[in-house]
Amino acid sequence: MASTLILLRHGESEWNLANRFTGWVDVDLSEKGRGEAKRSGASLKEEGIKVDIAFTSVLKRAIRTLWIALDEMDQMWVPVVRAWQLNERHYGDLQGLNKSETAKKFGEDQVKIWRRSFDIPPPPLSLDNPMHPRFERRYAHLDPVVLPATESLKITLDRVMPFWANTVVPHLRVGQTVMIAAHGNSLRALVKHLNKISDQDIIELNIPTGLPRLYKLDDDLNVLEDRYLADEAAVKAAAAAVAAQGKA
Ligand code: 3PG
Repeated sequence: MASTLILLRHGESEWNLANRFTGWVDVDLSEKGRGEAKRSGASLKEEGIKVDIAFTSVLKRAIRTLWIALDEMDQMWVPVVRAWQLNERHYGDLQGLNKSETAKKFGEDQVKIWRRSFDIPPPPLSLDNPMHPRFERRYAHLDPVVLPATESLKITLDRVMPFWANTVVPHLRVGQTVMIAAHGNSLRALVKHLNKISDQDIIELNIPTGLPRLYKLDDDLNVLEDRYLADEAAVKAAAAAVAAQGKA
């Protein structure tokens, strides 16, 4: 049965605004980010989207984006599943650093490798770093072996995909409308899979904040339709702005 999937990166966060690597740090939306989430909800409403189930991460910038969008759509009642597997990729020892200052220090090429290469992870957090997820109550129920000290896109994909296949896909296979509010890199992993993007080409993919992407999928989850609910020029400009965050 054909199904509808909405992918939404959270609106601008406080640390997007400050241009700091965020990863698993739980920062909230900026004022602008809340506005983006509201506008996302308005465009989904205008499109007539009726969500059956929504998924998000365990990070408040994505959770709040989902709340605001569903509120705007008057669909706050829909079931929501929060899953750590949809978290942003873990940015290791870069978390908290300013992206542009990091580019000045290590070079733009190195920062692009850390941000966008498929399989080269940023430097890891040390195990005793208080920012390590093993010290966080929200991850205390998990086997410590799954808790990352850093993640490449490949490592992120390796935890997003089983969740996608086991928990999200069953809803799509019966024709439901599924909304996922997540993060730049957990969504890059999903888009890589859905649009069959190669390990090389994924380097150039930047996902803008707060713009809903609508997919229509066939029975076998092939993409029938794929478009942002925003005009093309705005999407391009927003993606270019994300890419430029790593400039010195
Ligand atoms: C972060 O974690 O810093 C951002 O949410 C995504 O960052 P990136 O665009 O630098 O990968």
